[in-house]
Amino acid sequence: MTAEFIASERREARPHGIELREDARVELDRLWARGREFLGSERAVMGGAMTWVSERNLVAAISNAGGFGVIASGSMSPDLLDREIAATATLTDRPFGVNIITMHPQLDGLIDVCLARMVSHVVLAGGLPPSAAIARIRDGGARAVCFAPALVIARKLVRSGAEAIVIEGSEAGGHIGPVSTAVLAQEVLPHVTEVPVFVAGGIGRGEAILSYLEMGAAGVQLGTRFVCAHESIAHPRFKRAFIRASARDAVPSPQLDTRFPVIPVRAIANPATERFVATQRAVIERFTRGELSQKDAQLEIEHFWAGALRRAVIDGDVEGGSLMAGQSVGLVTREQSAVDILDELVAQALAVIEARRRRGG
Ligand SMILES: Cc1cc2nc3c(=O)[nH]c(=O)nc-3n(C[C@H](O)[C@H](O)[C@H](O)COP(=O)(O)O)c2cc1C
Repeated sequence: MTAEFIASERREARPHGIELREDARVELDRLWARGREFLGSERAVMGGAMTWVSERNLVAAISNAGGFGVIASGSMSPDLLDREIAATATLTDRPFGVNIITMHPQLDGLIDVCLARMVSHVVLAGGLPPSAAIARIRDGGARAVCFAPALVIARKLVRSGAEAIVIEGSEAGGHIGPVSTAVLAQEVLPHVTEVPVFVAGGIGRGEAILSYLEMGAAGVQLGTRFVCAHESIAHPRFKRAFIRASARDAVPSPQLDTRFPVIPVRAIANPATERFVATQRAVIERFTRGELSQKDAQLEIEHFWAGALRRAVIDGDVEGGSLMAGQSVGLVTREQSAVDILDELVAQALAVIEARRRRGG
């Protein structure tokens, strides 16, 4: 083989490589077109709202990076949310959403603030949202997004007016349902086609994003991967705990006795997790001895984690607070900017498509 021949082959190869990358981009854009259109973002990646973490800085950074940031209003009053939305809007001119927990005692007040501030998307999470809340959001001109833990509920929510659905599997961080993302996706994606469906839980790399898009998802939602963004205000000790943890460290909160149900929350196991087990044991013993009513015993168990997420995220108490994290925490290896995280995810998805094309697929 002559040197000229090799050189001309290289010249041929370069444009082909660029073409492959372009083809891959076109293909990815086709796959998540519905999600991009629905969100009004360049990339159909929602930043999963995380109480205390998803405030103005991280939300704006995700939206500025082409994703779709979502403010977590779980710990906010309507007044605080009003200020947070206004502050976020000074940091980005791209669209972002607000996540509202349906059990919030001021649900209507929070929705009204979103509407008055012309927030484009309101995500209702944490329990079945009342149809009236969905109607209030839509009538006020915003788009209503709802979480569905099963196919029947997804269908019901669509009938009630939900304009998009998020399905979140048990690999996720924070409050979780019993079914894995992989199974939920197979249960819901082939059947709910009327509205865009976003898949959440356990997604840490672009290959996984691509596979859910190919199964019919309009887009994805990631929480854990964004905790260690440079722009995230999470305490350095909270971030360090994420960087050190592996997937198996992120476990659901333990429950000792079915008579005293524990709301399952996935978090990195720490000394507080052990104290939670000890507390349950002590409370159940007092109940058995007749020193506590069942109701009071249940309340004591429920109160254990009150304020625990704030203590860990804001104060950096990683031993006594709650280190809510998904299993994808094992894929968090360093601090990165939000744009680097999103670029990396997209590059991983594109690499799969390119490799396939190279093989002639
Ligand atoms: C620290 C933390 C706090 C969270 N808080 C909320 C919340 O307030 N509301 C909500 O709907 N989801 C919450 N989530 C779930 C995320 O929005 C997202 O759906 C989830 O993290 C996706 O799964 P992943 O962690 O595997 O990426 C939280 C998750 C984490 C890790």
